Amino acid sequence: MCGIVGYIGHREAYPIIIEGLKRLEYRGYDSAGIALFDGTDLKVSKTKGKVLDLENRVSSEISTNANLGIGHTRWATHGVPNDINAHPHYSNSGNLVIIHNGIIENYDSLKKELITRGYTFKSDTDTEVLINLIEDVKLKENVKLGKAVQIALNQVVGAYSIAVFDKNKPDEIVIARLGSPLAVGIGDDEFFIASDASPFIEYTKNAVYLEDEEMAIIRVNKGIKIRKIKDDTLVDPYVQELQMNLEQIEKGGFEHFMLKEIHEQPNAIKDTYRGRLLVKEGIIRMAGIDDNIEKFLNANRIIVVACGTSWHAGLVAEYIFEDLARIPVEVEYASEFRYRNPVITSNDVVIAISQSGETADTLAAIKLAKANGAFVFGVCNVVGSSIARETNAGAYTHAGPEIGVASTKAFTTQITVLTLIALKLAKAKGSISNSDYRYHLQELELIPEKVAKALKSDEHIKQVADIYKDARNCLYLGRGYNFPVALEGALKLKEISYIHAEGYPAAEMKHGPIALIDEQMPVVVVATKKGHYEKVVSNIQEIKSRKGKIIGIVTEGDIHVKELADHIIEVPETLEPLSPLLTTIPLQLLSYHIAVMLGKNVDQPRNLAKSVTVE
Ligand code: G6P
Repeated sequence: MCGIVGYIGHREAYPIIIEGLKRLEYRGYDSAGIALFDGTDLKVSKTKGKVLDLENRVSSEISTNANLGIGHTRWATHGVPNDINAHPHYSNSGNLVIIHNGIIENYDSLKKELITRGYTFKSDTDTEVLINLIEDVKLKENVKLGKAVQIALNQVVGAYSIAVFDKNKPDEIVIARLGSPLAVGIGDDEFFIASDASPFIEYTKNAVYLEDEEMAIIRVNKGIKIRKIKDDTLVDPYVQELQMNLEQIEKGGFEHFMLKEIHEQPNAIKDTYRGRLLVKEGIIRMAGIDDNIEKFLNANRIIVVACGTSWHAGLVAEYIFEDLARIPVEVEYASEFRYRNPVITSNDVVIAISQSGETADTLAAIKLAKANGAFVFGVCNVVGSSIARETNAGAYTHAGPEIGVASTKAFTTQITVLTLIALKLAKAKGSISNSDYRYHLQELELIPEKVAKALKSDEHIKQVADIYKDARNCLYLGRGYNFPVALEGALKLKEISYIHAEGYPAAEMKHGPIALIDEQMPVVVVATKKGHYEKVVSNIQEIKSRKGKIIGIVTEGDIHVKELADHIIEVPETLEPLSPLLTTIPLQLLSYHIAVMLGKNVDQPRNLAKSVTVE
């Protein structure tokens, strides 16, 4: 959580930082701040609210002709979101300035110790404790800033990516990372620092990603020097070439990133299977699986670990792996798995699914699984992310940057990758017939155009949204492959519209949620032809008898649900294991339109963040 940006070089720092913060707002957006130093004056401006509020404030408050600066967009952990708790924070002397993404868990004992040494604190944050600890070390030990940061971090328990500078040394920024991502863009005698590479892609394509427990001293004219925080070992910077471009992180004419990303799904899914799905040859080519096929084929079981929407993709994977490849699958919330002393053996394969590749709980679950000898395979979207690097092997989803906090294209591309893997393993195991295998490949290739067709119901879905936008509660039902879709549909609605929504296996409705049904209650039922259709139709009858309002997500040409439902939204026909890729689309659009009609901030819903780097 939290986005950090820094610049040191010959350009004006302010526009780089403010624009960079806007691109990192997906990481948190409850307050924002900036510190600029022009060689004489240090100006710090911070505010509760969004980067736009900061921008409005800065234009009237501070001069902007500084070549050194750091900025922060916050998702509060310690201390409520307000101007004082916003970053940057500075030390008691006013010389050292810091931005921080993460949590210092032992901040309380450190703070008490610093108070006895005469330090005072303005904010409630752990970050202000850290900067004063660094100052204390610097003065006490009479060391340079880099050394002081290193000594201080060795006393800290928690997670961080930080950038610190000393106004008496305006040619230097010190950065460090443990558990939260940090990238450095390398230009000509200029350096960009950010939580991901998006703030600097128009300036340089060369980036160094700091690893956990590394710090770097960055000096204009002298370059970047990376060290291990623990033992001072020097590390050679590994410079990577970035593949991202500017258009990918702009709205491209859409009103919201979420809408753009919903509409990007046909291409995103194509990008996911491009070069992997070779229909004519009847081959699925995935290096990460090819190189480790024995591990999968000999596995006792597959354990999926993930959070949020990625966990829902994992549930779809459970159905598809068991159905096609006949491999037992367990799907675990990473946050539960990591703390419940799970039984893991070296015959287990763990699949970690994460859009951002930075989710703290998923990362910790991976480390636990590896420590117990399991083989861990990552399904990530962000190239070079922590999870992508921590796993033994993996496959990227290639969905392109997802900026809307509510995940859309990440979900469908995760399912695409997982489907490819399941089909590949099914073929290798012989658990699928050749003709079925070929048929699945052909149908998967057609999914992008079918998604495009499903997207054409947008206007109709908008009308349905208008009818139900004032509902207080909403139920989502599905069976089999479409049960995880029901969960995902409910999650989408609650996260962006703040309407209470629950996803349920359709038959389980009888064991509780049916009590909620009355004429006020919209019930979204995913009832495609192949997914236990008759059973779902019976469930719809049960809702109808209790006067619930039914919105049916059905296969094109459906007649039975049409007779019973108040509204139907059609999706093209496909094979049952592929149906989540289509039935998800109307649910994304329904939530989107309801949230827009309610005037909610669709791309940045309250209290949420896209990348959850705290546990
Ligand atoms: C947050 C996001 C969700 C996402 C979840 C897991 O809650 O708002 O959209 O599904 O984290 O994130 P990951 O990056 O691991 O998929």
